[in-house]
Amino acid sequence: MRFEQQVAVVTGGASGIGRALVQRFVAEGAAVVAVDVVEGPLQALVAEQREKGARITGVTANVALDGDIERMLTAATSAYGRLDVLCNNAGVMDMMTPAADVSLEQWDRVLSINLNGPFLACRRAIPIMLAQGGGSIVNTASEAALRGGAAGTPYTVSKHGLLGLTRSIAFFYGERGIRCNAVCPGGVATNIGLGGAAPNQEGLARVMPVIQAAAPTHVAAPEEIAAAISFLASREASNINGAILAVDHGWSAV
Ligand SMILES: NC(=O)c1ccc[n+]([C@@H]2O[C@H](COP(=O)([O-])OP(=O)(O)OC[C@H]3O[C@@H](n4cnc5c(N)ncnc54)[C@H](O)[C@@H]3O)[C@@H](O)[C@H]2O)c1
Repeated sequence: MRFEQQVAVVTGGASGIGRALVQRFVAEGAAVVAVDVVEGPLQALVAEQREKGARITGVTANVALDGDIERMLTAATSAYGRLDVLCNNAGVMDMMTPAADVSLEQWDRVLSINLNGPFLACRRAIPIMLAQGGGSIVNTASEAALRGGAAGTPYTVSKHGLLGLTRSIAFFYGERGIRCNAVCPGGVATNIGLGGAAPNQEGLARVMPVIQAAAPTHVAAPEEIAAAISFLASREASNINGAILAVDHGWSAV
């Protein structure tokens, strides 16, 4: 099994891609710390996996808060003694809002979860990984990291920034045993939405035709993204560092 004796932390683990990832890591032998801001579904997943014999810990945490990040990483090292894999996967959409209409609250919310969160987690995970000789980080970016017309401004900026974080960490820490890569999913059938809020009508009218025209009919299952993330996280990808992998059924090839 690819992750035998390894410890993986997955943020956004209660739903969608993160949930599929938690299940995959468990199935491949890892001890897993599943992290989510929503407690009920997280604890249900943990209970379900424990019943099957998994080594799994659930941590209710908001990735935008440094104290919560510290707590989730301490959960990994105190329960399982190490940290091999960090998957910065938690994320929220914006409301398809073009820059001039973005409220500061919306900007802060999306950037703090989608970009500050992965930065805070990497900042604290890297010293742990360096002390044990290495590790692997995989960030869940998006098609919106590759183009300007797949979401509103905050989400697009946050995911472009996440690619910068990925490459910078790959550059600075690759030679010391830490690999950092990113995936850019296209459309995936998950619970991500516009947060219950009304979308920006202008943004929606501009973005939807682009998505409908460019995105092939295939909407991925979360497991298809989890397969790519777990490959990048694994030692099979030992020579892959700083890569940005489109997992979008060809959307970015259009
Ligand atoms: N679904 C898609 O079409 C799609 C496409 C490209 C990229 N993505 C990215 O995939 C990642 C996973 O999203 P998903 O589609 O599985 O959505 P999802 O909503 O099903 O799952 C996201 C999880 O993240 C959690 N979360 C949100 N804010 C959090 C916070 N502050 N702290 C901790 N957890 C938090 C949510 O509670 C949820 O369980 C996101 O980064 C998203 O941007 C999704």
